[in-house]
Amino acid sequence: MQFVKTQDGSYTVFNQKYQEHYHTISGALEEAFEKHMNAISVKDGFNILDFCFGLGYNSIIATKKHKKLQIVGLENDIEIIKAIKELEVPREIEKEFTAFRNLADKLEITDDNNNTIKLIIGDALVSIDSLPKDYFDRVFFDPFSPSKQPEMWSRKVFQKVYNVMKQGAKLSTYSCAESVRQNLIAAGFKVMDGPIVGRKSPATIAVKQ
Ligand SMILES: C[S@@+](CC[C@H](N)C(=O)[O-])C[C@H]1O[C@@H](n2cnc3c(N)ncnc32)[C@H](O)[C@@H]1O
Repeated sequence: MQFVKTQDGSYTVFNQKYQEHYHTISGALEEAFEKHMNAISVKDGFNILDFCFGLGYNSIIATKKHKKLQIVGLENDIEIIKAIKELEVPREIEKEFTAFRNLADKLEITDDNNNTIKLIIGDALVSIDSLPKDYFDRVFFDPFSPSKQPEMWSRKVFQKVYNVMKQGAKLSTYSCAESVRQNLIAAGFKVMDGPIVGRKSPATIAVKQ
């Protein structure tokens, strides 16, 4: 797996199949911090769905300074999970990252702060059907872009995500495409602008009403 350094010094990967990086080149870590964690905020004890786990940056950032999170990560490519072992990470998340390095072997880990990360390897569009309804407080929604992977951004998929979220729960995603927002609204979400990071357009926050 070929790591690519982004502008904030953290590393991403280029995916050959989708011809797309896993993160914005302006900063993988910054993207996780700003478009996901800071955008929807996390509290101790929250149940979090990391939809398209990849290198796990969104979850790693969430575990920083938080306790007793129950994170479920959906990912269909075990190779990217294995790559976590080799990933060089900035010093600010080195400590949190230690536990994550065992994910490929164990698929479920608990860190020193009692945060649990459980991975379900397989197609997220199928795995999501096995998750409990009205359960998640936060969702990090992070597939490849709507132009490269349109099947992940449909109304039907958002409906499934909606069903596993609690009332008032929030979803973050980097896309602000009109079609994405329309599909979120059609699934029942209230949609608002997220932060502007690394490019001119805002991210998106969706709330289950
Ligand atoms: C944009 S990357 C996610 C980046 C990730 N959140 C991170 O911090 O590294 C998209 C991820 O979705 C995964 N993926 C793509 N299609 C999937 C599917 N149908 N089910 C589960 N995972 C999928 C890819 O393997 C890839 O790891």
